[in-house]
Amino acid sequence: MVDSTSRDKLTDEEFRQKLEAHFALYRLNLRSPLITNITVNQWYRADLLLVNEVGLFRRADIEPDGIVEIGCEILQSRHSKMAPLEADPEWKIEIRPAHTWNKRTNTLLNQFDEIPGFQASGRGALEYRLVKAQTKTKALEGSGEGSGAKVTSNLDNAVQSQKPRHYLRFYPTKLDKFPQQNDKNPDPMDIILPLVVGPLYVEDNSNNSNLSRKDTSSSLPSSSPSVNTYAPPELWPDTTEMVYDTYRMFNTKNNVVIHESWDSGIPGKIWDSALVMLDVLKKMAAVKPEYLSSKHIVDLSAGTGLLGLYLASLMTKESDSQVKCGKITITELDEALALIDKNVDLNQYLVPDQPNDISSVTTTIRLATKPLLWGNLEQAAECGKADVILASDVLYESEFFEDLVKTFVDLSTSETRIYIGYKRRGFEAADERRFWALCGEHFDVSFLTADNSQDTDSCLVPFSALATGVQLYRLTVKHTSLI
Ligand SMILES: C[S@@+](CC[C@H](N)C(=O)[O-])C[C@H]1O[C@@H](n2cnc3c(N)ncnc32)[C@H](O)[C@@H]1O
Repeated sequence: MVDSTSRDKLTDEEFRQKLEAHFALYRLNLRSPLITNITVNQWYRADLLLVNEVGLFRRADIEPDGIVEIGCEILQSRHSKMAPLEADPEWKIEIRPAHTWNKRTNTLLNQFDEIPGFQASGRGALEYRLVKAQTKTKALEGSGEGSGAKVTSNLDNAVQSQKPRHYLRFYPTKLDKFPQQNDKNPDPMDIILPLVVGPLYVEDNSNNSNLSRKDTSSSLPSSSPSVNTYAPPELWPDTTEMVYDTYRMFNTKNNVVIHESWDSGIPGKIWDSALVMLDVLKKMAAVKPEYLSSKHIVDLSAGTGLLGLYLASLMTKESDSQVKCGKITITELDEALALIDKNVDLNQYLVPDQPNDISSVTTTIRLATKPLLWGNLEQAAECGKADVILASDVLYESEFFEDLVKTFVDLSTSETRIYIGYKRRGFEAADERRFWALCGEHFDVSFLTADNSQDTDSCLVPFSALATGVQLYRLTVKHTSLI
């Protein structure tokens, strides 16, 4: 992501400093896969990583004695696709610190780490087990922590009779001395993006078991008698089914799930800028719903499709927002569309036009995914003119500046508003000036800040913009322009 030409001009130390700038948001990621079939009352191990948007961890944020404790809840999907995820009143998850793993000898020690989560390291672990919830009411009260998950009636009849697919959601519960320079965030929990993993399937042998919970914590799975269930995956037999699919979940009235594919490179994950733009969207829906209502909104070069899908969730009839149904076009390079299509599919309940939609959700959102290479007029014409363009983190190759601005022009009418999330990484000031000057040939360019009461959009600037260093710009078509 750091422009290669400017990289060449930097010393290693300068390069490191640039990479570390605005290291504000972390993601929880999996370090090892999880067991797919979980037996009730057995302890299992989850190995986790803390990484920023480019997969790095800054040790100074947690060393020498920082702590991030992690909690876990179980969610279920009862839809033929995936979203929305719901609490499952039948089950709850208990956690404890993981058995200490001796990296040098690759052995599991008969002692526990101090906390479930991360201690003075960007690598952490915990153990979890599934237990029956005591009462339905209690389970509902306790199981939705942090997720906003709920039991909905939007049940897909086709899957009611199938074994429910379960998902584990890992989230931060306590931060201490993390990050060390924590002066910018109002809620420290907001600096770590939770993780959803699945699907997992529950094997409930609890009725047949004579073992107490205490006993089962050290019992062995029947399929692999030589392995403790809480052992790391490297000790499980090769034939053990494991799951490595990870998602992020974003709450709306229901929720939106986004699959990330970190191995797919730049388009495969949600960048900080998209998380900030998501906050902008939330604010827009709350205070300027007219910007979005019944409009055609383009999520340009969307990566995972998060913004477009979140917007769709705001437009559903079930949403609390004032945003009325409109048209959403999610664009990407041809080769990056598969992930977006997958994410649209996972959230199919939002989009009634797709086959097998849920009959109780009646909306008229029109959502399309389209290939759009910047500068390609035919592809832009296929997308149609936009009322609003969301462009998150699209400035990172200066050779594409002209093409990108051409696409802004191609998609615009005289009324179009373009919102750009831009995170400074490697550009020289002259590169940036060149880009804004190119935009300035057609658009009025406004840098949005929260404290500029002269600008009606200053209310859209979220705190996360400051915390992450993501800058927000708005382009509106110049009156003198021929667009
Ligand atoms: C840093 S990612 C941002 C993705 C997403 N908007 C986000 O913020 O999470 C930049 C995206 O621009 C897309 N992209 C790069 N060059 C492009 C081009 N010439 N035309 C269209 N899209 C391009 C990439 O595929 C990538 O998904």
